[in-house]
Amino acid sequence: MVEWTDFERATIQDIFSKIDYKSVGHQALSRCLVVYPWTQRYFASFGNLYNAAAIVGNPKVAAHGLTVMQGLEKAAKNLDNIKATYAELSVLHSEHLHVDPDNFKLLADCITIVVASVLGASFTAEVQAVLQNLWTDFERATIQDIFSKIDYKSVGHQALSRCLVVYPWTQRYFASFGNLYNAAAIVGNPKVAAHGLTVMQGLEKAAKNLDNIKATYAELSVLHSEHLHVDPDNFKLLADCITIVVASVLGASFTAEVQAVLQKFLAVVVSALGKQYY
Ligand code: HEM
Ligand code: HEM
Repeated sequence: MVEWTDFERATIQDIFSKIDYKSVGHQALSRCLVVYPWTQRYFASFGNLYNAAAIVGNPKVAAHGLTVMQGLEKAAKNLDNIKATYAELSVLHSEHLHVDPDNFKLLADCITIVVASVLGASFTAEVQAVLQNLWTDFERATIQDIFSKIDYKSVGHQALSRCLVVYPWTQRYFASFGNLYNAAAIVGNPKVAAHGLTVMQGLEKAAKNLDNIKATYAELSVLHSEHLHVDPDNFKLLADCITIVVASVLGASFTAEVQAVLQKFLAVVVSALGKQYY
């Protein structure tokens, strides 16, 4: 699950409070049908979509544009639960309508463009990043800053040790590591230390490929699911231990805002690692 920062939550509510759903939905769906004409095939029942004027003048396009925006409003009101909120809608679009999922991104881009044209100068780069669920400049800078300030070896060692001590069932995946008998044995085990560093190097890869974490983690996800059979709930546990160790290392400079960024980053990593499971 993606964790939203306060800025992101406020920005999303703000965008939805400022736009006219009917007009934005109508314009965005019309643009999608005009600019990417192959999307028309899903709307055969809508009648005349012969050219741009026909599309814009078609009352079914206008009505359906509003429906799409009401669907988005539901997501905006359930930010922490978008997947569940969209469960039925996902089944509808895949199993019943057979919409090629590439098209979602095209309609989303049209919505971004129309919102930009409506909000004008107040649609800053930061607001755009939130709407597109990209990383803001602050988030990018904060993530690089965290990684530049921590000692991977020490943070990785401490975090993996904590995970194995606090959630002892995670030890079963590391049977080949030898003595994990108690906290002292875990902390003193050189394989734990070495693997902690490996995990942090894996995270560094994600931090260096923020726009492409899923693809960057494709092999790692296969490894953890199909070969190591790691229960994906455990990813979140290790991520939480990493957050705690980073907090203890950075001290007062680990503000609530920095925490929100790190937890968002780790949530994306956890979701990318778990991708292979779903
Ligand atoms: C931003 C992404 C999208 C959202 C939020 C969205 C939302 C919705 C909603 C709320 C409905 C009505 C569901 C119902 O009646 O229970 C719907 C129906 C539908 N959607 Fe989407 N949709 C999206 C993208 C697309 C795309 C890209 C296509 C095709 C290119 C598409 C094709 C359809 C079709 C054909 C229907 C049924 C329309 C009808 O016959 O009334 N949707 N969508
Ligand atoms: C933050 C989440 C995690 C990251 C970034 C991560 C990263 C990695 C990396 C980079 C490797 C080495 C892959 C290779 O050799 O090609 C690895 C291996 C492994 N991971 Fe993870 N991992 C994570 C979570 C977990 C969790 C929660 C568990 C189990 C509780 C786990 C169990 C293992 C095991 C057993 C190996 C193989 C170790 C060995 O035999 O050398 N990982 N992981």
